[in-house]
Amino acid sequence: MRQEYDKYTSEDFEVWKILFNRQIENLKDKACEDYLECLSDLKEVLNADRIPKFEELDAALTATTGWSIEVVPGLIPERDFFNLLAQRRFCSSTWLRTKAQLDYLEEPDMFHDIFGHVPLLMNEEYADFMQAIGELGMRHTNSDEAILQLKRLYWFTIEFGLLRQKGDLKIYGAGIISSFGESNHIFENKSINIDSFDMISVLNQAFINSEIQTQYFEVESFQQIYNSMESLMGSLIEAEKMEKKQKSRASR
Ligand SMILES: [Fe+2]
Repeated sequence: MRQEYDKYTSEDFEVWKILFNRQIENLKDKACEDYLECLSDLKEVLNADRIPKFEELDAALTATTGWSIEVVPGLIPERDFFNLLAQRRFCSSTWLRTKAQLDYLEEPDMFHDIFGHVPLLMNEEYADFMQAIGELGMRHTNSDEAILQLKRLYWFTIEFGLLRQKGDLKIYGAGIISSFGESNHIFENKSINIDSFDMISVLNQAFINSEIQTQYFEVESFQQIYNSMESLMGSLIEAEKMEKKQKSRASR
């Protein structure tokens, strides 16, 4: 599949512009520095003026961290998704929400996928971490429990991760970055729970993707996540072992 740029309508261009301008203003003091720097580095090819051309984004990504965009029709099975991450290919849809649905999304659209995810793929530490999730997904592809743990890690970091920067809470998760409502919810809702990042807690934390989040984890740096890779790998091996034991018991 590829992006069919000629098919975008004038409403699509208008929606892109509204979403981009509204969120760039909103994120000024909320997004982490790394995200804002990467977005600025991409300004020639990712801006409010026009819907981005994937081939231009690809060229910028390939030249920095070697990532590229894989066009998908929508959500794809998690193992296929991890397989692509392992190859430094990030999935994106090409459709855009309508003007009547600026804040309502059943499935991630191009604004979420591109504005939310792509800038940080220019950051080396983050880009390496994304690939590592994919590689671990492939290594444990036969274990549903290990895949579930990786999905939780992805959820609480790549999608909904927070970062403490110079004492201030900042956003790096794409699910928050791309959402006007969620990015304000973090700072305005007193009833949410923000825990310090701890790998094992994250791997055991269930999530619901159809509701606004109430549980978040904050890291001190992307390096902190990377440093806890050993406990992640240990937990995945353990999960796979337990699952095998249970299966062999059940088949006796
Ligand atoms: Fe996402």
